[in-house]
Amino acid sequence: MGRWTQKHRALLGPESMPRFIALNNTPEKLNDNLLLRQALLDFIADFANWDNCTVREYLETSRALTQAAHEALGGAPGTRPLVVDPFAGGGSIPLEALRVGADAFASDLNPVPVLLNKVVLEYIPKYGQQLADEVRKWGEWIKREAEKELGEFYPKDPDGATPIAYLWARTIQCEGPGCGAEVPLVRSLWLAKKPNRSATLQLVPNPKAKRVDFQINIKQRDGWVNQANPRTRVENAKFDGTVKRGSATCPCCGYTTPVVRVREQLKARRGGANDARLMCVVTTRPGEQGRFYRLPIGADLTAVRAAAAELERRTAAVQGALSLVPNEIISLNEIRRISLPIYGMTTWGDLLSRRNSLTLATLARLVNEVGRKVRAETDGDLADAVQTCLAFAVSRLADRASSICTWRPQADQEKVEHVFTRQAIQMTWDFAEGTFLSQRTAGWNDAYEPPAALIDELSPLKLASGTAVQSSAAKHTLPNDSCNAFITDPPYYDAIPYAHLSDFFYVWLRRSLCGVHIDCLKNSHVPKDEEIVVDRPHELSTSTHDIAFYERELTNAFGEGRRLLRPDGIGTIVFASKTTASWEAILKAVVDAGWTITGSWPIDTEMENRISAQGQARLASSVHLVCRPRENPDGSLRTDEIGDWRDVLQELPSRIHAWMPRLAEEGVVGADAIFACLGPALEIFSRYSRVEKASGEAVALKEYLEQVWAAVAKEALTMVFHGADTTGFEPDARLTAMWLWTLTAGTNGASNDENDEDEESDDDESDGGGKKVTQGGFVLEYDAARKIAQGLGAHLEELASMVEVKGDKARLLPVAERTKALFGRDESGPATKRAKKKAKQQMAFGFEAELEAAEEEQGWGVIGAPQAGQTVLDRIHQSMILFAAGRGEALKRFLVEEGAGRDERFWRLAQALSALYPSSTDEKRWVDGVLARKKGLGL
Ligand SMILES: C[S@@+](CC[C@H](N)C(=O)[O-])C[C@H]1O[C@@H](n2cnc3c(N)ncnc32)[C@H](O)[C@@H]1O
Ligand SMILES: [Zn+2]
Repeated sequence: MGRWTQKHRALLGPESMPRFIALNNTPEKLNDNLLLRQALLDFIADFANWDNCTVREYLETSRALTQAAHEALGGAPGTRPLVVDPFAGGGSIPLEALRVGADAFASDLNPVPVLLNKVVLEYIPKYGQQLADEVRKWGEWIKREAEKELGEFYPKDPDGATPIAYLWARTIQCEGPGCGAEVPLVRSLWLAKKPNRSATLQLVPNPKAKRVDFQINIKQRDGWVNQANPRTRVENAKFDGTVKRGSATCPCCGYTTPVVRVREQLKARRGGANDARLMCVVTTRPGEQGRFYRLPIGADLTAVRAAAAELERRTAAVQGALSLVPNEIISLNEIRRISLPIYGMTTWGDLLSRRNSLTLATLARLVNEVGRKVRAETDGDLADAVQTCLAFAVSRLADRASSICTWRPQADQEKVEHVFTRQAIQMTWDFAEGTFLSQRTAGWNDAYEPPAALIDELSPLKLASGTAVQSSAAKHTLPNDSCNAFITDPPYYDAIPYAHLSDFFYVWLRRSLCGVHIDCLKNSHVPKDEEIVVDRPHELSTSTHDIAFYERELTNAFGEGRRLLRPDGIGTIVFASKTTASWEAILKAVVDAGWTITGSWPIDTEMENRISAQGQARLASSVHLVCRPRENPDGSLRTDEIGDWRDVLQELPSRIHAWMPRLAEEGVVGADAIFACLGPALEIFSRYSRVEKASGEAVALKEYLEQVWAAVAKEALTMVFHGADTTGFEPDARLTAMWLWTLTAGTNGASNDENDEDEESDDDESDGGGKKVTQGGFVLEYDAARKIAQGLGAHLEELASMVEVKGDKARLLPVAERTKALFGRDESGPATKRAKKKAKQQMAFGFEAELEAAEEEQGWGVIGAPQAGQTVLDRIHQSMILFAAGRGEALKRFLVEEGAGRDERFWRLAQALSALYPSSTDEKRWVDGVLARKKGLGL
């Protein structure tokens, strides 16, 4: 809740209600529209606090307000307004609609969120607490039954300890000349990272036996020792495993088998989960705290073999249409984010060890059994509800029961990590296999309890029932003019491959819901053809979901939204992406679909894990575009309002000028503010059916948006320099200032949106990129940087000594990296390629060496001063470098004798930069250091 929590938690809570009630009790004040508005806004702000959203007084008030507004807008008394969200996903919007007393209609193309919404919007309002009780009762029953069937495959230790996780490594055979040892693929050897209880695995090469053995080391006060023999100290404890960037180094011979060969070997064994090497077993002991680590014993492997035999027996006996273990193919169309097929995991079942498969298949069967039992006893719909909740529990467990799950050694809690730590499924070399019986990690209890807890939380709200259906937003099932509000959070370009990721859960939902939700679950996979998304291209992909497809279908969807919304209805489109291209695409779709944008607000909607929507994104800080259908009262599209391009252009700057300070006041700055300005700017343009130039030529939205960017950049710059005349600054200074400002995170959280992050993968296969090397500097999306630059009359290409463009990213170089360019012989021109490369190789204080070299070359060391750079910014950067290198005397001569500090613009810009450089950076310290010299030098 960011802002609201900090600002309001202390202040508000139920005590703040009186402010609103007091107003309510003094009806004469209600006649004062301004007071009333203020009070309503206060109410909304207070209600937005999570702590208040379940408080009875707030709920009742919000519902009374919804009703009053509905009737004031012509709604028949006794009816409720209908809110439609055709991209409902995890369902936060429809749920909030129900909370404030509206009716809600939630649809999505993807069956996983549709079923989730069925639970939240239909079953919970209908059955309330009874549903939670049933889920817990039958969850327990399933556990008991499954334990009877599967207990023998998860044996206790002879000493009474209970295994809670088995740590495995996939293996390859070393391809080093004459070696052939089995190499366990391990990324990290850490088992536990507790300050007083750290443990690691150690690889013990055994070349004779052509394999690697293991030893467990624990940390004692004076260093690492072998757990099996605590008197043996371990010198040079190692923590890195055998795999780096997909290649595997053999502990026996040191040969590194390259990534292509590692892939080939795993491919031949469907990923190698089922002939992996057991390295270690994690246990708990009765009456003792913490986790214990031991090496495998014979009984561990016997149990695994027995589970495999049992699975084989049951697989052969399967008669239904569905295989016991999911044999559904993993699509290659999102291989950049679901890279498993490259390693031979071509079906969803290949992600599982055989024991995982046996367990999940057993639980799915028992969930079906529960459905039959409840159905025999009571109403069929309740049975569907219970079965659906438990089916979600099975799919939740799958998230912690696959060979993609790693062991998490972190101090907060050592546990089995789940698959969906990010919006991608990437290869893991070593993996942790939990046991469903565990109460500590990756257990069945943990799978069904959260759905039950959600019911506990929601049922006291006494929500009215909503509706959840499967439907494409671009071909909606609702009739014309049937809803009052169209509120939605559409997919953003290629941000999240929802349908591809959801297959992971879907295959288990289908197996747990045989004969239930037949329509929704009829396909073998989550439908993808109609999904509005951009698939990331790859040579193995046959996807046709490119940008053009996305833009066309999104326009269709917004057109559908306008069709089903009443002409006097209101639309709100939520958008949280921070790439310029996807913003422009969505704005174009809104305008082309016949909407007028009438308002826009950035709102913090951080939802934590409120409704744990499986495979669905959380909303973060996002812009809400408020819009109205550009329609006549009879619902037909208005086409006759022609706007004059000159008028539009004239109005634009004043609009932005009015908005920016308002946003800043609310803590919305930087990139967030830029995006938040697009809405108000669009209000001007989208008021018209068409905007024309004097020639009669229609203005494309793209052309208008270029103007908007320029206006925003100019306005922001004035704010950055506090209204000072910025024309005196050269383009490089203006660009630097704007660049840094864009990166500023306000209280609204302008940090990188999680959706925009490129997936970094451990195995760095398909992207061909690998781990990002952390570089210094200040990175912006290239397109945004280009637009900002253009708006300021600068060109990135001409500023090569300060900006580096690479792919779709542009990096404002850290000042230290400019040393050579600023002080070297070629100081006036752009840095040469070699110079740049060299500069980058210099770590931390490398610039000092460069400075020395330049000093020697030019001989200004003892008495002179370096030659002043061309622009004010260059001279500031030179001063910063001299300061950083501890060249106080040279700095003085540079500022005084060379005259750099005699230019008033120098100090003005330095002052602005001091405010803009992030506080933890070298740049901030250095520029402050230079500023501190000013007085002493009499400047
Ligand atoms: C950004 S998400 C919505 C997130 C949601 N607000 C939440 O709270 O989780 C976008 C949703 O659009 C859905 N979607 C994509 N294409 C669709 C289509 N053609 N019709 C309906 N839904 C679609 C996706 O399945 C995804 O659930
Ligand atoms: Zn070897």
